[in-house]
Amino acid sequence: MSFLEAENLILYYKTLRGPVRAVDNVGFTLNRGETLGLVGESGCGKSSTAIALMRLLPRNVERFEGKVILDGLNLMDLSDEEFRGKVRWKRISMVFQGAMNSLNPVLRVGFQVAEPLMIHKGMKKREAMKRAEDLFKMVGLPPDFVYRYPHELSGGMKQRVVIAMALVLNPEIVILDEPTSALDVSIQAQIMNLLKKLKKKLNISMIFITHDIALASDICDRIGVMYAGQIVELGSSEDVLLNPKHPYTQKLIASVPLLRGDRVPEFIPGAPPDLVNPPAGCRFRPRCSHAFGKCGLEPPFIELEEGRFVKCWLYGGED
Ligand SMILES: Nc1ncnc2c1ncn2[C@@H]1O[C@H](COP(=O)(O)OP(=O)(O)O)[C@@H](O)[C@H]1O
Ligand code: SF4
Ligand SMILES: [Mg+2]
Repeated sequence: MSFLEAENLILYYKTLRGPVRAVDNVGFTLNRGETLGLVGESGCGKSSTAIALMRLLPRNVERFEGKVILDGLNLMDLSDEEFRGKVRWKRISMVFQGAMNSLNPVLRVGFQVAEPLMIHKGMKKREAMKRAEDLFKMVGLPPDFVYRYPHELSGGMKQRVVIAMALVLNPEIVILDEPTSALDVSIQAQIMNLLKKLKKKLNISMIFITHDIALASDICDRIGVMYAGQIVELGSSEDVLLNPKHPYTQKLIASVPLLRGDRVPEFIPGAPPDLVNPPAGCRFRPRCSHAFGKCGLEPPFIELEEGRFVKCWLYGGED
């Protein structure tokens, strides 16, 4: 049994046009110390999967169900209160997409890191600030920066602060939602190096969310490729990157520009589907150059070999 197992996770949002099927039967596993990438175009349901795991749902939820088993405990059986008291931030924490721009402008950044220690652990302010200093060191910031305000820090430094915030209660799992997409390329590389260092040093499990499959392959042990609210391919980073099976993954990889070489980056034809009315059968069908008769039915998630899955009729499966 894996450390974390998500099964048949569903999160639909209520809208005037009908339910948005943002997370539609998503399943994956995560082992201790492992980094799993969730990769796919904007709007495919990556952030929704993350907030479903954190149970930080917006008000307009239409449907939320499935199993999330952490170390043998089904988190979906916990009440909101139990989840808040025992799991959120303490066992699973998250760096939100764009979090570095949501730091409170009128509070010192160290205090924003230290605050949960005072609230959840009953620490005195001095002790909590000391711990914030240690965390700053760990994320590569000078300890005396705890006394600075957000506007006194660069983008990369603010991103280090929000990473420190996610680590403050020693979680076993950290979800990072597009942690570098708002940063310049050189700063992005520094943050990736920091995450790799933390992964090694703290042996935490990470879920690394990005639209950039090349970036994911840099840090992830395994990658799940999402399309239209579903995981369509899952496997080791190496396998998914070097031997992609799903036609969507193949297009995604072919669209990555290469530094050298003669290949012109490809575009994925068509547009991502509307998740209120996704295409019947395989959701990639309208954009897939391999589509054939069976693709009008929903393909099964086929296990090609241990831990290597693809949701596509090209690889067999009963209809
Ligand atoms: N609160 C919401 N209400 C309605 N639709 C939403 C809400 N949040 C996200 N969506 C929609 O759900 C889909 C998945 O969004 P999201 O999870 O943010 O994707 P990603 O993180 O992969 O870009 C998108 O179509 C998005 O517009
Ligand atoms: S199931 Fe059919 S339409 Fe879908 S990706 Fe495979 S070949 Fe293409
Ligand atoms: Mg997102």
